[in-house]
Amino acid sequence: MSAEEAEEPRITVSFATSGVTCTAPAGSSLLRTSIREKGGIPWKCGGGICGTCRCHIDAGLEHTDKVKPKERKHLTEEDLAGGFRMACQTFVSGDVTVSWTPRATGPEGKADGKASATS
Ligand code: FES
Repeated sequence: MSAEEAEEPRITVSFATSGVTCTAPAGSSLLRTSIREKGGIPWKCGGGICGTCRCHIDAGLEHTDKVKPKERKHLTEEDLAGGFRMACQTFVSGDVTVSWTPRATGPEGKADGKASATS
């Protein structure tokens, strides 16, 4: 009987690349949610520095908070307009679906290399 849990609005986060779906409290950090729920978004620093956590908000971009200055170091205006965000700098207030380019350097070994870089 946790009052906090009962009162906290929950949102659904779908990690399209890994196929994981979970719920989280509204206002959660996208990266923290991914780490907690094993969503699989790649990351290193968690602090907006490395650029590893670049991801694409497939759905629910309107539920993400405002773009942080640190994100602009890694993402162009075009990226941002196209729905790209840095997961460690993004907080979500409603349902979102997120995807990313799988990295070849994960503990599992491989991405298949056909991740298409845009020009
Ligand atoms: S994890 Fe390094 S920028 Fe987000």
